Amino acid sequence: MKITELAALRDQWVPIELETAPTPKMVRLFGETFVLWKASSGFHLSEAYCPHRGARLDCGTETGEGLMCPYHGWRFGEDGRATHIPQLDPGVPIPPRAVLKTYPVVLKYGVLWSCVGSPATGGPPGWHEADELGWRVQVDFFESWRSSAFRIIDNNLDQSHPAFVHQGTFGNPSRPLVPRYEIERTPTGFRTRIPQYVGGAGPQMGVDDESLTFDRIQEAELLAPLVTRIRLMYGNTAPDYSFYGSATPIDDEHSNYLRISALERDEREQPYSLFRAYSRRVVDEDRLVLETTNPDFPIEPTAEVHLRCDRNTLEYRRLLSRLAGRTGSARAVTA
Ligand code: FES
Ligand SMILES: [Fe+2]
Repeated sequence: MKITELAALRDQWVPIELETAPTPKMVRLFGETFVLWKASSGFHLSEAYCPHRGARLDCGTETGEGLMCPYHGWRFGEDGRATHIPQLDPGVPIPPRAVLKTYPVVLKYGVLWSCVGSPATGGPPGWHEADELGWRVQVDFFESWRSSAFRIIDNNLDQSHPAFVHQGTFGNPSRPLVPRYEIERTPTGFRTRIPQYVGGAGPQMGVDDESLTFDRIQEAELLAPLVTRIRLMYGNTAPDYSFYGSATPIDDEHSNYLRISALERDEREQPYSLFRAYSRRVVDEDRLVLETTNPDFPIEPTAEVHLRCDRNTLEYRRLLSRLAGRTGSARAVTA
């Protein structure tokens, strides 16, 4: 399934830009074009083309009172209704159809989120380590990848790729087996906890020594169809960290991948620059393979071969099948 074929995804909140981005700015979502703009009341997302004669509104001007079109100077307020039409004859009311379709924008974790459908939830998914534990939060990146958003999220859940994809960081091809694990269903998705034995990951815990090895538990959680949370838990042997990853569909073949990190300890014990440089190497290993993957992502559980270690990525397909209005109950081909 191509990402734009799953209409229910439009009802999800998706990250659209960093809060520091200059506006007005063109934003591509689900293969369509929008404009992100700022009024005195805050940010708004609107359809990109002026309802009068189709000028692109990211080339317009933010006046403080609204967004002014560059072509004939119509001005639109924060609800998208035209508030000023310079060519209107005196006494003539503003035509009721002079409206720019406009969507809500909220700020969370330093990122602007919007929903261009009927919001399925009250806002972007929460994040335990940031919201309840108050860990140090940093946006690692929000950048365009040539990959379906399904593939990026699937990769965040995938347990068997690190041994091969991450050989330059923490992966070890001589240890390809994944321990048995259970799926725990949550109100919005599911969660798994998997023991891992890894080398090389020291910099993420504030230790600039990649020869060390660690036992840890990886808790992977699907918070929303396109949002994951991964917590790496080291018990008392090293500081934990958590990352929140979301993939915003630009179109069927491109996504804006958002990564935000939460670190358990302070800057002295777990320096962010060390963490960030190492994490970037890990992520670039994922990117290399993800940009070769097929943008057509099978969501039918019977369409692919699944191994025991693929339980959570199979569960992801079932969840997407349900979202697409299918039963998701077909028996998988499990080897
Ligand atoms: S095209 Fe926008 S005001 Fe005419
Ligand atoms: Fe990976």
